Amino acid sequence: MLQGKKILLGLTGSIAAYKAALLTRLLVKAGADVKVVMTPAAGDFISPLTLSTLSKNPVVTELATGGVWSDHVHLGRWADCMVIAPLSCNTLSKMAHGACDNLLMAVYLSATCPVIVAPAMDEDMWKHPSTQANLSAIRRYGNRVIPVSNGELASGLYGEGRMAEPEEIFAYIVHEVLSTRELAGRKALVTAGPTFEPIDPVRFVGNHSSGKMGIAIARALRSCGAEVELVLGPVSIEVNEPGITVRKVQSAEEMYNSCQEVFADCDIAVMAAAVADYTPRDKSSEKIKKREEEWSLSFIRTRDILKSLGTIKRVGQFLVGFALETHREKEHALEKLHSKNADMIVLNSLNDPGAGFGHDTNKITIFDREGLQYDFDTKSKDAVARDIVQLIIRKLHV
Ligand code: CTP
Repeated sequence: MLQGKKILLGLTGSIAAYKAALLTRLLVKAGADVKVVMTPAAGDFISPLTLSTLSKNPVVTELATGGVWSDHVHLGRWADCMVIAPLSCNTLSKMAHGACDNLLMAVYLSATCPVIVAPAMDEDMWKHPSTQANLSAIRRYGNRVIPVSNGELASGLYGEGRMAEPEEIFAYIVHEVLSTRELAGRKALVTAGPTFEPIDPVRFVGNHSSGKMGIAIARALRSCGAEVELVLGPVSIEVNEPGITVRKVQSAEEMYNSCQEVFADCDIAVMAAAVADYTPRDKSSEKIKKREEEWSLSFIRTRDILKSLGTIKRVGQFLVGFALETHREKEHALEKLHSKNADMIVLNSLNDPGAGFGHDTNKITIFDREGLQYDFDTKSKDAVARDIVQLIIRKLHV
């Protein structure tokens, strides 16, 4: 799978460094040539001997050993992909600021290949504004950040900050390195996240969509070479990547208007947003004060974005919708496929464990206009996004 690919694995000082042994094994087993660079602190957590044995290559740590210079420029240029896993808070800060006080930083600063990082730290460190600012900075420089997960941390506390599992990092590398550019020259529109329908200047009606699924689809389309327009409702995830233009919107009406603006130029459109079906009839320009014991709001229907694109779709444009259902799932999904004139509908059933809002995983079934049904296992949202994009590519016959 990774035959002939050259991967530089950087390790920094974190207890998660032990997982790098498994990652190295997965990469080597898949045929990659792996070279390991460690910071001096990483050596406190895992022995270079373990990694040199697994990678079948010498492990380098110092800029110079025994009067011999380690050629960081050569290493940085040798690799097809550099992955820093685990990425400590300290090395993250150095990457954000271009500090160069060890071999790993020198190699990183010399690297001409894609760089992927898998952070690992305690929750409080992870959530610190300086860490988040540093993450934004390294994303701006074009680095890809593999999200941390929730779980038991080195401190014994539970929370956010655990490094992604080696299998997940491996899948990410395969996905990055093997990106085949099948969609180069194509343009894609993706909607993601919830919409917030304003009631007054301080209140809104919204939903629990995290935007994770739509954002993963935008990234998967991008990694196949498409230029992506991401129309994104209010979410906490920041998307700042070359090739993905983010149009931030709040309400269903704003999302509708953005989609109408860009759809004509697009070859593919994937409507993954959880768009409000109703919006308050009257939006007060002043904060509504409490008065009566009971209060009710009157709602009117929003415009259906997917359906509106289905109406204006040209031959050659490929339109994908989502259906989130709790009962008679297949029947409802097929009804949406046809009534909204989509080419494909992706069904999430809330009855499937691990599917739907808020989860990092999803389980989908896809229906197409030829009457075919594609069933998939529960997977990470990134893996689900890749399945959806691969099917789109097959359907486009590229
Ligand atoms: N959708 C849309 N615009 C809307 C409502 C929905 O583009 N105003 C899109 C969603 O992004 C999704 C698909 O339509 O791709 C299905 O959305 P869903 O809410 O599941 O279905 P609805 O058509 O709204 O029907 P219902 O709520 O009755 O299930």
